[in-house]
Amino acid sequence: MNTKLVKVDIENPDMNILGEAAEILRNGGLVAFPTETVYGLGANGLDEQACKKIYEAKGRPSDNPLILTIGDISGLYPIVSRVTPNAEKIINAFWPGPITLVLPKAECVPMTVTGGLDTVAVRFPSNKIARELIKAAGIPVAAPSANSSGKPSPTRASHVEFDLNGKIDMIIDGGAADWGLESTILDVSEDRPVLLRPGAVTQEMIEEVVGKIDVDPAVFSKPSGDIVPKAPGMKYKHYSPSARVILVTGPGENVIKTINEKAKEDAQNGLKVGIMATEQTKDSYNCSSVLVVGDRNRPETIGANLFKILRKFDFIGVDVVYSEVFDEDGEGAAIMNRLNKAAGFNYIKC
Ligand code: TXA
Ligand code: MG
Repeated sequence: MNTKLVKVDIENPDMNILGEAAEILRNGGLVAFPTETVYGLGANGLDEQACKKIYEAKGRPSDNPLILTIGDISGLYPIVSRVTPNAEKIINAFWPGPITLVLPKAECVPMTVTGGLDTVAVRFPSNKIARELIKAAGIPVAAPSANSSGKPSPTRASHVEFDLNGKIDMIIDGGAADWGLESTILDVSEDRPVLLRPGAVTQEMIEEVVGKIDVDPAVFSKPSGDIVPKAPGMKYKHYSPSARVILVTGPGENVIKTINEKAKEDAQNGLKVGIMATEQTKDSYNCSSVLVVGDRNRPETIGANLFKILRKFDFIGVDVVYSEVFDEDGEGAAIMNRLNKAAGFNYIKC
């Protein structure tokens, strides 16, 4: 298949191009498009055959359900059987934006989308290209992240092209994704909301609106016999470059010393080593592949760059990556959740 790559200006989207993309979606094809979190791989969310193509293109396990995206609020009601009071509060506070809600599904939503669950995850993105495309399509658009399953989510069109070129009909290049990590997922299908995946809308922001919420234990711990994530996708190894990622934690000076020692040792053993550093520490490491993920005092820069940097390590072809860790407060929760998964919770404490 020939994948058409088109550029669209986010400030002033060309409606002819978005109309063509909408037509592809209505006809059962696949279109990757930007959102404010990461790039999504869109298909007609009511068409089982089209959704099956998503699983094929991504190499995604079929028990991992898809998110349905909507272009305006009226798109929600036909795809859920109930909007709970907590869902209404979250919608009023945060939609459109980077938070996905899990609600009881309506009959019309195929089991291919929900992976056999009786709930459906719904997202109303704020990105202008995403909204205009979904509105033009006039259908709910199933949109998981547009990466090969297991790889870091794409934050640029070039990442999508690298993973999916030749497997999908179109890629809309709308520039770098603002936030760079996937949306928060909140299960509001029952009385007490449960945070299934941390994201740009933080636990603190949610609790200001609906009071205390539960957090799925799998958010911060390694899934094991007792800890089975409620979001099926969170059980898979994720966000990982091909290299082994090792997180190093301890007082700042010890971290730098330990990473330098380990890097030297590994290099002597013939391994190609990468180090993920911050603006604050980049000059403290002795290694040829030091990449700066962001500014420790501005966590949003780390969120925006994390997946790009993990992909870059793959591109350079390193065998092992040592990384510093970050505070888990506020938006740091999303950063550490993804980093822990990339590393398979592999830590050196120093
Ligand atoms: O920011 C985002 O949410 C991006 C953009 C493209 O919208 N999408 C995204 O989709 O991250 P995906 O498929 O990569 O992640 C969706 C997650 C998976 O972990 C899946 O298991 C979970 O949502 N999920 C989907 N439906 C669910 C449901 N009914 N109950 C619990 N978890 C669900
Ligand atoms: Mg994904």
